Amino acid sequence: MLSPRRVLLRNSTSFSMATRGACAALVTFFLIFVLITNTSNKSISNSDIYEKNSENRMRNLDEEGQGDVPVVELNRNNAIPDDTVSSLLERIKVLEDELSSMRTRMDDAENREGNAVNDEMVAPLPTTKSFPSVRYRNEETRKRILITGGAGFVGSHLVDKLMLDGHEVIALDNYFTGRKKNIEHWIGHPNFEMVHHDVVNPYFVEVDQIYHLASPASPPHYMYNPVKTIKTNTLGTINMLGLAKRVKATVLLASTSEVYGDPEVHPQPETYWGHVNTIGPRSCYDEGKRVAESLMVAYNKQENVQIRIARIFNTFGPRMHMNDGRVVSNFIIQALQDKPITIYGNGTQTRSFQYVTDLVDGLIKLMNSNYSLPVNIGNPEEHTIGQFATIIRDLVPGSTSEIVNQESQQDDPQQRRPDIRRAASEIEWKPQILMKDGLLKTIEYFRAEIDRNKRGGKPIPEAVRLSGLESRR
Ligand SMILES: NC(=O)c1ccc[n+]([C@@H]2O[C@H](COP(=O)([O-])OP(=O)(O)OC[C@H]3O[C@@H](n4cnc5c(N)ncnc54)[C@H](O)[C@@H]3O)[C@@H](O)[C@H]2O)c1
Repeated sequence: MLSPRRVLLRNSTSFSMATRGACAALVTFFLIFVLITNTSNKSISNSDIYEKNSENRMRNLDEEGQGDVPVVELNRNNAIPDDTVSSLLERIKVLEDELSSMRTRMDDAENREGNAVNDEMVAPLPTTKSFPSVRYRNEETRKRILITGGAGFVGSHLVDKLMLDGHEVIALDNYFTGRKKNIEHWIGHPNFEMVHHDVVNPYFVEVDQIYHLASPASPPHYMYNPVKTIKTNTLGTINMLGLAKRVKATVLLASTSEVYGDPEVHPQPETYWGHVNTIGPRSCYDEGKRVAESLMVAYNKQENVQIRIARIFNTFGPRMHMNDGRVVSNFIIQALQDKPITIYGNGTQTRSFQYVTDLVDGLIKLMNSNYSLPVNIGNPEEHTIGQFATIIRDLVPGSTSEIVNQESQQDDPQQRRPDIRRAASEIEWKPQILMKDGLLKTIEYFRAEIDRNKRGGKPIPEAVRLSGLESRR
């Protein structure tokens, strides 16, 4: 349907075209009328003159006695002198030229108006985008902050928090697992910049702080291209540390509880060195992060770069990938579709899950502290995977999913629970969100994602099993 404005434009266009047509006809008619009038006036006066002249001439001849002398008869049609005809023709030519130039001008004007209407129909002018209101900060307290992996699950929530707090944020990402959709609500804001870049290559920018999150985080994603995962965590970290050194920025590494491997100490304090299989399917990620931690400490000692190391435990929340193969996303998607909830192994392995906003608060507190040793950031509320499957199914109203056990996965950690005493003492942080509240928000997010996929005709991803991925390569 046309908008009222377009209807008005269209009507006014057809009105003006009709008006112009009428004007052109009137002008043409007027010119022809002037010509005819001119010509006939001149003919009348010439005939009069001719008659008067002939009478006079006859009278004169009679008076002079030469009335029998033959007189050269003048043709009345040839009575207009040649110079008058040619001047009239000239006049016609001038009027014709004027008429033609008027027509050209009218056509041009009509085309211009037509194009304007078409342009508006093809590309409507952009409307002004509205943004969430952000805190005002002056030059002294406003920081320029680079977030690598800024379009990912955790990165995009960090972007939101820092933007709302009034900082200038640059979200850098290669969109391997991140999505523009996660940060599109800030595009166009004067404090926000989006950069398409791979951290494996150097990047230069003036910033005060760097949150280095770029790395695939879920097992199917980091196992998809293990060499790239190692490069991202080693070369990428070197590039960010080099940048931090040059511009004297503080850099925070998003490390992981995976550096503890399949732990022999429970719960895991930061002083535990870990138990990692260097040649297992997870080693590209686990060892990549361990090297990244070593690089951080080396740049701190050797180059005096200000460093922060966050060892992040399992995190969940809106904007998780549907196909990331993590426990929370797998279980929720299965429960929402009444499909069997699949547990790998007997379900006695434990996990501790934190809600994403708690993690983001912890990262910001750590960055703004003076603490440069690793800090665990996670929720110590621990559940077996079996219990967790039941909790999720019970939170999805009406779900009839049964819980089934499948073969266990290689190197799957048997227990995982952070010791967060260091976070409490050094950065005054502890999680605030109850697991159940966080799960309810996440279930709503996945419900909306499933509906969106169905509307778009996209398939809903099946639960991802790691051994399947290994055999695929
Ligand atoms: N979510 C968790 O439970 C968890 C747990 C421990 C550690 N972490 C760490 O937190 C960080 C963020 O994790 P997430 O859960 O948001 O994962 P995610 O996959 O959603 O986000 C990672 C982002 O990094 C980007 N990225 C990957 N390789 C890149 C490269 N070479 N150059 C530029 N960008 C690149 C991806 O496109 C994505 O946007 C990761 O470093 C991860 O190791 C997360």
